[in-house]
Amino acid sequence: MATEKILVIGSSGQIGSELVEELRARFGDDNVIASDIKTPECAVHKGPFEALDVLYTARVLETIKKHDVKQIYLLAALLSATAEQKIKLAWHLNMDGLINLLEICREHKIRLFWPSSIAVFGPNTPRQNTPQYTVMDPTTIYGISKLAGERWCEYYHQKFGVDVRSLRYPGLIGYKSEPGGGTTDYAVHIFHEARKHGSYECFLAADTMLPMMYMPDAIKATIDIMDADASKVKIRSSYNVAAMSFTPQQLADEIKKHIPNFRITYKPDIRQEYAASWPESMDDSYARKDWGWAHRYDLAAMTKDMLQNIHVESPVAH
Ligand SMILES: NC(=O)c1ccc[n+]([C@@H]2O[C@H](COP(=O)([O-])OP(=O)(O)OC[C@H]3O[C@@H](n4cnc5c(N)ncnc54)[C@H](O)[C@@H]3O)[C@@H](O)[C@H]2O)c1
Repeated sequence: MATEKILVIGSSGQIGSELVEELRARFGDDNVIASDIKTPECAVHKGPFEALDVLYTARVLETIKKHDVKQIYLLAALLSATAEQKIKLAWHLNMDGLINLLEICREHKIRLFWPSSIAVFGPNTPRQNTPQYTVMDPTTIYGISKLAGERWCEYYHQKFGVDVRSLRYPGLIGYKSEPGGGTTDYAVHIFHEARKHGSYECFLAADTMLPMMYMPDAIKATIDIMDADASKVKIRSSYNVAAMSFTPQQLADEIKKHIPNFRITYKPDIRQEYAASWPESMDDSYARKDWGWAHRYDLAAMTKDMLQNIHVESPVAH
């Protein structure tokens, strides 16, 4: 059977650029169509690329037909910190982008991946080992859009049988691309600053515990859930997935094992408020039981790998 054609929307971002690379390695360059409103800067995009605005339905449809697309990864969104500065644009992009795609996937029988986030939880959610099903009272526009998006996904699955699959990503850490304006970006910036200057001023407080995941694990989770037999994907809102939880202080201590003179200082800003309403750790037992999720990187393994791959001249800045 021929490999199904895959479209990644938002492919120039932090997750998209790495997801496209891995999908192409697995399924072949020509079977993975990258697309973004922004033209990719790096050489990652060796295969097909389409300039595309997810809110422009006619162009999305044209691209799907041109390449006979059977699977879509929808990554275009405004992230937490950026969304708070542009609340109407965030709602428009995060909601209408998803609803457009759900409708297209219904009509054309396309499998859809759409990421949710730990930002769907809020101040009344139990913060330790946050259950799959619990109080959800997000306080940011980003979190509100993700929670509404989860309900839309489940609705389209129940009502129209759309094969939509989703993960509640924790903070994602990688060295290949720049983070896109989220509250957990500090855990990427810290490595670059450690290498360049031996010090870092953190915008979260020292003891802010958050769930995090190394990018290779996030990419694996994403492709694993899309590849799982449909009968195993029992939750069609979004799955909790977890790998590790740590505070800025704990991350700094781990970095010091490799760079003994590394220094961290703290100057919490508005992002501290968002982080304070999010879980500290997640119960991801449904993902592990239903479709076999398993992470590979903990804090020590992630830190070692990040520092091995980040050099003073690495391009990611902040
Ligand atoms: N990175 C994280 O830590 C994290 C955590 C939880 C959830 N997520 C979710 O994962 C998804 C991808 O996140 P990311 O970190 O790669 O974000 P990012 O900001 O790095 O990338 C998003 C990409 O979407 C593109 N885009 C924006 N508007 C568009 C439009 N109208 N049409 C087409 N493309 C458009 C941007 O140019 C960008 O390349 C988002 O839904 C985000 O909410 C990310």
